[in-house]
Amino acid sequence: MTNIELVGRVLSSLPADDDHPYRTGAWAPQTTEWDAPDLELVEGAIPDDLDGVYLRNTENPVAPSIGRYHPFDGDAMVHVVGFRDGKAFYRNRFVRTDGLLAEQEAGHALWAGISERPSKAIREDGWGARGRMKDSSSTDVVVHAGVAITSFYQCGDMYRLDPLTLDDLGKSTWHGQFPSDVGVSAHPKVDERTGEMLVFNYGTEAPYMHYGVVDADDRLVHYVDIELLGPRLPHDMAYTENYAILNDLPLFWDPDILKKGGHASRFRPDLPTRLGVIPRRGQSSEIRWFEADPTYVLHWSNAYEDGEEIVLEGYFQDNPEPTVPPESSYYQRLSRFLSLDGMQTRLHRWRLNMRTGATTEERLSESLSEFPMLNPDYIGRPHRYTYATTGVPGFFLFDGLLKHDGATGKEEHYSFGDGVFGSETAMAPRIGSTAEDDGYLITLTTDVGNDRSECLIFSAADVTLGPIARLRLPERISSGTHSTWASGDSLPNWR
Ligand SMILES: [Fe+2]
Repeated sequence: MTNIELVGRVLSSLPADDDHPYRTGAWAPQTTEWDAPDLELVEGAIPDDLDGVYLRNTENPVAPSIGRYHPFDGDAMVHVVGFRDGKAFYRNRFVRTDGLLAEQEAGHALWAGISERPSKAIREDGWGARGRMKDSSSTDVVVHAGVAITSFYQCGDMYRLDPLTLDDLGKSTWHGQFPSDVGVSAHPKVDERTGEMLVFNYGTEAPYMHYGVVDADDRLVHYVDIELLGPRLPHDMAYTENYAILNDLPLFWDPDILKKGGHASRFRPDLPTRLGVIPRRGQSSEIRWFEADPTYVLHWSNAYEDGEEIVLEGYFQDNPEPTVPPESSYYQRLSRFLSLDGMQTRLHRWRLNMRTGATTEERLSESLSEFPMLNPDYIGRPHRYTYATTGVPGFFLFDGLLKHDGATGKEEHYSFGDGVFGSETAMAPRIGSTAEDDGYLITLTTDVGNDRSECLIFSAADVTLGPIARLRLPERISSGTHSTWASGDSLPNWR
């Protein structure tokens, strides 16, 4: 490949003979940072009307965590592929979090991961709802006010990157109002219509949750207590034009073990799912809780208003606390909360009646899928199409794409092929698009057998056709969790 520059390298203290399943194979981390101003086209053509950036955060550890490593402990590396005038550029950069910098200086891990007791950490301080964790900022990435922002599922800082160059822009301060004592959770929601970013955080101290609104000028303009019944483990939120939707789900840290300093997630099928609807600038007292069948939901795909009802869609888990045989290895036990077939995740719809307070719910698909993406123009509004990923049985890897048509129930599936795994796949509306699925799907693959990665572009109108373009990345990349799309016209310095 030509025109590719190695621009950085980070020292790794991982063992040379590493055998951890989430640090080898498709999860083998990188240590290098690259610039590729003009990605090599392997096949097809980059559409001229694909304009913007696809950003992907990955879990890319360079220190092993004290004790047992969990993939969500991994340091953040962000990849960007930018599409402009039928060409594509690429960059990847570590997110230089306070935790990564401290461990780099020490030359070894300073914090224990989520699978270990906090007391094992060398450092007394730290981040996360659990406490004494490294804020790896490797869970999520969004673009707000023209800046890429990474975040951590356990709550922490928000790290700001230039969405084109991935230059480090420091941490979010929100003009001095950032709640540094708790941090914020992954899955902030950016409403492109208003420029607002809706956020939440959670912890082990009452009121156990807060909800906030950050405006287009990056100022925290609203921040309220959300009183839950105890410490909970929310992961995602949703919003409509007028409401934010928070949740209190019956899978949380066992309170008795928590009192002794341990953190064991337990599903309580005797408790309902609680869905909280609050006006987007509403006070704590205005939240209305709806009860539904017990489950855990990692990700909501969308929410919208329909007359007197709030419609919420996401992935219902039939088995939020999967069990494994007693003789299973740590690695098998680790995977149980990470595989879609383990948790049995299926697309589901809840209807919350604001007049009667009643909830009705229905399963929308029998397919196991998760990590949904929509045409961003339809978020918070009624939508038809959901683009999701399918998972490798028993493991956390994405082996294909699934397009669900909410009007007909019809589904289209595309498999990446043996040993090839994709990323959370974003939908990029075509410039001048006229229909909801008039656009492109973008994913980054990790091809284990051939030790390489590609960027694939699909037509969102028909994913069964396979990629309409394939671009070669400079190096095989690690797997990860979340991604986003930002159109060129939303980015400063784009042209
Ligand atoms: Fe997530």
